[in-house]
Amino acid sequence: MDTYSRRRFIKTTGGALASAMTAGLGLNRQSPGSPAERLSVGLIGCRNMGFGLLQHALKVPGVVCRGLCDVDRNVLEGRRRDVEKQTGETPPLYSDYRKLLEDQELDAVFIGTPDHWHCLQTIHALQAGKHVYVEKPLARTITEGELIREAARTYGKVVQVGQHQRSGAHWQKVVGMIRDGHLGSLRTVRLWANFDYGKGPERLPDEPVPEGVDYDMWLGPAPKRPFNQNRFHGVWRFDWDYGGGLITDWGAHLLDIPLWALEIDGPPQSVSSVGGIFSGEDRAIDMADTQSVVYQFEDVNMVWEHNGGLQTGPYERNYGLAFVGNRGTLVVNREGWQVIPERDGNQPLVREIPFRESGEGGHGAHVANFIDSIRTGAELNCPVEAGRLSAFYGHIGNIAHRTDERLRWNEAGALIGRDRYEHLITPQYRSPWQLPRL
Ligand SMILES: NC(=O)c1ccc[n+]([C@@H]2O[C@H](COP(=O)([O-])OP(=O)(O)OC[C@H]3O[C@@H](n4cnc5c(N)ncnc54)[C@H](O)[C@@H]3O)[C@@H](O)[C@H]2O)c1
Repeated sequence: MDTYSRRRFIKTTGGALASAMTAGLGLNRQSPGSPAERLSVGLIGCRNMGFGLLQHALKVPGVVCRGLCDVDRNVLEGRRRDVEKQTGETPPLYSDYRKLLEDQELDAVFIGTPDHWHCLQTIHALQAGKHVYVEKPLARTITEGELIREAARTYGKVVQVGQHQRSGAHWQKVVGMIRDGHLGSLRTVRLWANFDYGKGPERLPDEPVPEGVDYDMWLGPAPKRPFNQNRFHGVWRFDWDYGGGLITDWGAHLLDIPLWALEIDGPPQSVSSVGGIFSGEDRAIDMADTQSVVYQFEDVNMVWEHNGGLQTGPYERNYGLAFVGNRGTLVVNREGWQVIPERDGNQPLVREIPFRESGEGGHGAHVANFIDSIRTGAELNCPVEAGRLSAFYGHIGNIAHRTDERLRWNEAGALIGRDRYEHLITPQYRSPWQLPRL
């Protein structure tokens, strides 16, 4: 296959379409009424998303919480009370995830820490023999994503990445429609994310580390810096040391959809980016709050756009995707989807489908799919390679932006002039943490 033809449609065959539509609908395959096998899970990083995952998991029969780990004792205590309310049991608490991983009875962990921790914690958990559900983006850098992929292969455990849209029925339907050529030849995939929080947090002065926080363990492999709330809980996303801004935060979800639908399995031909701080505000943000990134393929353009601080966007949605084809455009986000036909005179080239609301977002189903995969070997909806690739697309958009260069890949899929970008591809860990060697 021509390396640049990284875009293949599965033409409408019942089998292909059916498998695209049903691929891991996240159904628990245990026969109804059969006692569910006990599965002990732990949570690393409890404040926000991680706890959402645990709550879904604890609704699955047979799943028990074996431990909670967080470096902020205030968060940890609050979540202990929440688990007690939900289950009536008091889970053991940990501030060092390595202690939690020593528990021989623990089967699996959910990782809901900031991105700069994903690589170490995922690989250490795999080395300890645990299954892992790790939040998106899979890793903060390209090399860390590759290491996680290698570790998943080496240790043979189940690794689900938190791109939970893949478990949402309407996303699966849309992917099926794109693959069956419903829109005709695709020209462009537009992706956008306009969120108020994307302008970055308010600038704040450094301050003493809050009581109960093990800040050194929050920083982990990241450089040592004074404590500042504007790069701590929730808002670390806008600092290069911990995250990648909107294009890795939301991009991990949105960029994933065309990669999945078009079966893109490698880099684009090239990527370029323009933008800057255009919100007019002086916020604590390292990256561009306004950015447009063009991913070039042989026969389709993928265009990412974000505007931090705005809350409206194309097709009257503040975030989403539009697959633009010769016969029509399919617009989709978490709320639902629609098809807007092209016309030949008055004649629509494809059936107009007014906006249809989605059902359940796929979050609970994604967690259930992880548990099902551990128990029955069911196919994962978001295996590690899918997580690695969508994170990679976010990272290369950022690297193109930071270097103000158009990145190009050769026919063999190698980044041309990689040495120039290496400092942004492979992180330097702060001692004593070391980039895992496998
Ligand atoms: N799938 C989704 O839709 C979705 C939504 C939100 C966040 N996320 C992802 O979830 C992850 C967490 O995001 P968040 O918004 O919950 O962040 P957050 O800052 O609100 O929570 C992170 C928690 O991890 C803890 N933590 C940090 N270092 C730790 C360590 N070494 N050991 C144990 N705990 C540690 C923090 O104290 C905090 O409680 C990110 O990767 C983010 O991209 C995914």
